[in-house]
Amino acid sequence: MKALQYTAYGRNPVVNDVPEPVPGPGEILVRVAGAALNPLDVKIGAGRVQEYFPINFPSIVGTDLAGTVERIGPGVKGWGIGDAVITRTDPTVGGAVAEYAVVPATSLVAAPTMTSLDIAAGLATAAATAWQAVTEIAELKSGQKVLVHAGAGGVGSFVIQLAHRTGAHVVTTVSNAAAEIVRKLGADEIIDYTSVDFRTAVSDVDVVVDSVGGETEVRSLDVLKPGGLLVSLPVPPDFERAAARGLRAEFVFHASDAERLAKVVAIANEGFDVVVDRTVRLSGAADAFDYLAQGHAKGKVIVQP
Ligand SMILES: NC(=O)c1ccc[n+]([C@@H]2O[C@H](COP(=O)([O-])OP(=O)(O)OC[C@H]3O[C@@H](n4cnc5c(N)ncnc54)[C@H](OP(=O)(O)O)[C@@H]3O)[C@@H](O)[C@H]2O)c1
Repeated sequence: MKALQYTAYGRNPVVNDVPEPVPGPGEILVRVAGAALNPLDVKIGAGRVQEYFPINFPSIVGTDLAGTVERIGPGVKGWGIGDAVITRTDPTVGGAVAEYAVVPATSLVAAPTMTSLDIAAGLATAAATAWQAVTEIAELKSGQKVLVHAGAGGVGSFVIQLAHRTGAHVVTTVSNAAAEIVRKLGADEIIDYTSVDFRTAVSDVDVVVDSVGGETEVRSLDVLKPGGLLVSLPVPPDFERAAARGLRAEFVFHASDAERLAKVVAIANEGFDVVVDRTVRLSGAADAFDYLAQGHAKGKVIVQP
């Protein structure tokens, strides 16, 4: 089969011919309909997260996949050939950007029906992380004001939808080109980060969900109300700086979790939009990986093996 592989840290991944994997005890072989790329894949390939997610080379790229059950390993119960499934693999294992992937049967969740199977892959990391940030960490409530940075990004596009669903007032930073996308997702106020310092446009915020980091994280402290919460995604935030200002800060550490993914799938079926920047064939996966690495995707980049 063909698969997108890392061959060394710091080298662009390449599409190679590799043996089709065989499911062992407790495992299932999935025929991949779609694999979604994430910034984490880029960080793994660059060797920037070796401490947490070391990989052995060569290694197949990607954690997020949706597809159909192709073969069932010994001892697996509850799944049948042809079932539509979605999963997020362990980042140290990867394996998603390929024609077939072997995954633990316990990691699988029945795929959502609200979108096509290939696009559903886009939920696995981004929507589940958004759920963790909005529901589990921030415990966002109706009437609260939330500032979502990078609202058109993979995670941000789901954060907006979840926040809107809770009845929160949603303010988001995007570039002008993405304004229509986030308006449709439920944003109440839209700030063009390329021309406006968001601190002049929003204040008294209960929760900031920050997928950008750096200066954006530091400035976010200026718009939070006393006791407000900064939820950071790219790296752990400066907890001491926040505490010194009477604010709270939390880092999201998203781990693959079938139970959480099942909750996200259930909500998705009630009406989630998976914003898709582009879909590409496996032959174009290396270019798509480069594109995602530039940090300007509007929604998800999906590879269709
Ligand atoms: N901690 C965790 O467990 C966890 C889980 C998932 C993701 N993450 C991290 O969260 C970050 C975001 O992930 P993602 O999948 O959402 O990334 P993404 O889809 O690649 O985000 C791209 C978006 O960011 C926007 N953007 C870039 N700079 C911006 C700025 N200064 N202000 C506002 N928007 C800006 C871009 O908009 P323009 O094109 O308009 O510039 C683009 O739409 C990554 O660092 C990722 O690794 C962490």
